[in-house]
Amino acid sequence: MAIAKRRSANAEADPWDAHSYMMTWASSILLAIIFLIVLGVSIIWLTVHPRQLHYTVENALVSNFNFNQSHLVTADFNISLSTNNSNHRVSFTYESMEVSAKSHDLLLASAAGPALVQGKDNFTEFAVILPSRNVELQGPALRDFKETESSGDVKIDVFIEARVKFNAMHWKQDHCRIQVLCGEVEAHRSPEKAFQQTVCDVEL
Ligand SMILES: *[C@@H]1O[C@H](CO)[C@@H](O)[C@H](O)[C@H]1NC(C)=O
Ligand SMILES: *[C@@H]1O[C@H](CO)[C@@H](O)[C@H](O)[C@H]1NC(C)=O
Ligand SMILES: *[C@@H]1O[C@H](CO)[C@@H](O)[C@H](O)[C@H]1NC(C)=O
Ligand SMILES: *[C@@H]1O[C@H](CO)[C@@H](O)[C@H](O)[C@H]1NC(C)=O
Repeated sequence: MAIAKRRSANAEADPWDAHSYMMTWASSILLAIIFLIVLGVSIIWLTVHPRQLHYTVENALVSNFNFNQSHLVTADFNISLSTNNSNHRVSFTYESMEVSAKSHDLLLASAAGPALVQGKDNFTEFAVILPSRNVELQGPALRDFKETESSGDVKIDVFIEARVKFNAMHWKQDHCRIQVLCGEVEAHRSPEKAFQQTVCDVEL
């Protein structure tokens, strides 16, 4: 007993112990602040709960197709797309959208897409016409066109680059870029032929 008493008396007098007590106290407060910040961010994250946008090529038609000996291709690609915003609290306003058709990285055609306003839980369909005029084919793109010419199909990759403003529950607004790649789209020259829906990769 006596020994314990003397010890605690000594502890109070010891400046080093008082210092470490302060340190413990300060680090507890710091920990509490960090905990509150993490909690706050998690709550915000969970309530906004951002989900990726979904893009699908619903149909792809080729008209006015001309591909001749000089390896120049002329065509109108009619690409029908759908996009699904499954976010309950985030809406997107498109400031610009550029849709392009490529074959093995060779740009065939591009055009501006619609200025969509994509609200919460919104599913929208749109179509863009991509005109290709006397584009010279080379290498693998030329080989692809020659191989598929008789079947009436044209295999293309569809790219979308968009700038959007997103709005999360009124308090968070920002701009970002969306990149969409729909690979290996089998565009048909005959509208009767059934189209194989193509699901796209989206980078937000
Ligand atoms: C190939 O077609 C383009 C138009 O798409 C035309 O300008 C060009 O003269 C044609 N070349 C040949 C060899 O037919
Ligand atoms: C493009 O194709 C869709 C069907 O996928 C059709 O409804 C639309 O009229 C076509 N647009 C043009 C300009 O041909
Ligand atoms: C859009 O996404 C939501 C949620 O993932 C889903 O329930 C809905 O069926 C989708 N709509 C379409 C048309 O794919
Ligand atoms: C989705 O938004 C478009 C306008 O961007 C609107 O025309 C369409 O009706 C909306 N769809 C649903 C299911 O709310």
